[in-house]
Amino acid sequence: MLELIINALWLMLPAYVPNSSAVLFAGETPVDFGKIFIDGERILGPGKTFRGLIGGTLSGIAIGLILQLVKDSTALGIPSFEPIYVVVTLSFGAMLGDLAKSFVKRRLRVERGKPLPIADQLDFVFGAWILTYIFFSDWFIRNFTIPIMVIVIVLSPLLHITVNIIGYKLGKKKEPW
Ligand code: CTP
Ligand code: MG
Repeated sequence: MLELIINALWLMLPAYVPNSSAVLFAGETPVDFGKIFIDGERILGPGKTFRGLIGGTLSGIAIGLILQLVKDSTALGIPSFEPIYVVVTLSFGAMLGDLAKSFVKRRLRVERGKPLPIADQLDFVFGAWILTYIFFSDWFIRNFTIPIMVIVIVLSPLLHITVNIIGYKLGKKKEPW
């Protein structure tokens, strides 16, 4: 069981890091360029910026590369990011999931920064999974077995909330969710 949990977290780190680090890179220019959708609300809102998107994605890729170096230089029986490009789809997919979630929040007229439970905690998981499955389905099926996916779905919200509370206490995040 412990081994499964470690493998699940290892596999998901390139998706967890971008989501939590985007707030550290947050910039000015919003991804929707401030544009309004047909319903009169912002397309994505001011909480999604290019700097956050790019900085977050690059952080996730960097973590993935480091993890693969660790794996290659040890004899640990942990999952391999091979082909290495899976770290790109895991990381960028996580950020795309976050953007998609904001799109849905705006359609539901949930204000920027206000919570949308479950979606806020799992957007990046499904974004990372879907993009990785599209490009690297063999790798995805080999590594994300049903038990691993169940562990990820249970642990990700807990981790996400913990990291957000830390970010909030450090003054980096405006809300603790
Ligand atoms: N952020 C960013 N660019 C992104 C994602 C996040 O600049 N692509 C920054 C923003 O400053 C954002 C903060 O990280 O406010 C927290 O991210 P998140 O909780 O995802 O955004 P919210 O402000 O809660 O916006 P939303 O209601 O759309 O989820
Ligand atoms: Mg938020």
